[in-house]
Amino acid sequence: MPEKETDSGTNLYKYRDLKNRQKKRICVIQFITETYRKRRYPAFSYLNAGKGKKILFFLKTSLYNSKMEGGFEVREKTSAVLSNSLRPRPDVLVTCRYQGKDNLLAVTCAANAGYDPPMVIVGIVPSRYSYHMIKESGVFAVNLVTEEMRDIYAFAGSKSGRDMDKFQALSLTKRECVKIDAPFLDIAPVAIECKVTGSIRTGSHEMFAATIEYVHADKELVDEKGFIRFSKLHFLTFKELP
Ligand SMILES: Cc1cc2nc3c(=O)[nH]c(=O)nc-3n(C[C@H](O)[C@H](O)[C@H](O)COP(=O)(O)O)c2cc1C
Repeated sequence: MPEKETDSGTNLYKYRDLKNRQKKRICVIQFITETYRKRRYPAFSYLNAGKGKKILFFLKTSLYNSKMEGGFEVREKTSAVLSNSLRPRPDVLVTCRYQGKDNLLAVTCAANAGYDPPMVIVGIVPSRYSYHMIKESGVFAVNLVTEEMRDIYAFAGSKSGRDMDKFQALSLTKRECVKIDAPFLDIAPVAIECKVTGSIRTGSHEMFAATIEYVHADKELVDEKGFIRFSKLHFLTFKELP
């Protein structure tokens, strides 16, 4: 039978397996915070003490907000490259139209930016041909990209619409957006129509915040409630992680 120790000051309850303690097995007690408790993390845990033996800890939580360090292994840190450190990073193709000309480019500075209203944000470098198109038209579409679209992504991310029609060069089928005047890619499993509401310069990029006006998704991906089953997609990770 485990022995119960109560410390009312810290509200900690420890259950120890006496047999394992006698054998002087090394053990770690995890302190868990009130936040964890509210998220319904288990209030007890087993610690494997080797050779199939386990120690059971029961932790009644309330006061452990400042003791986390004691319960977790401290990891050695060093500094790393600043740019592109946020992961996961999406690889999307942004399509746009201005004065009758269509274009697309590869974009990785992109993110959800709110859900009421639903918004996204994309970062475009002002030297891109697409930049003035989006700045002037105030609209664009975000096309999600799967692994099978790798070559398209590489091309769109290295050639400029200044010099060529990338849709033609890639034999891409364009589709018309329904709420904005811009094309989207038929091959993209999901395409998001966006209307710019504002922008902010963040050094190299101008981040365009935009409301989501309409979402096109392959029929086979959408469930009866209209939710996209993203797990069915194999998203492109363009630059493999080292
Ligand atoms: C993996 C990858 C990610 C990129 N991410 C961005 C980005 O977030 N913003 C941007 O402005 N350009 C980005 N680019 C570069 C543009 O896609 C590229 O310069 C393109 O040729 C611009 O096309 P355009 O001149 O027709 O607009 C990225 C390129 C690659 C390969």
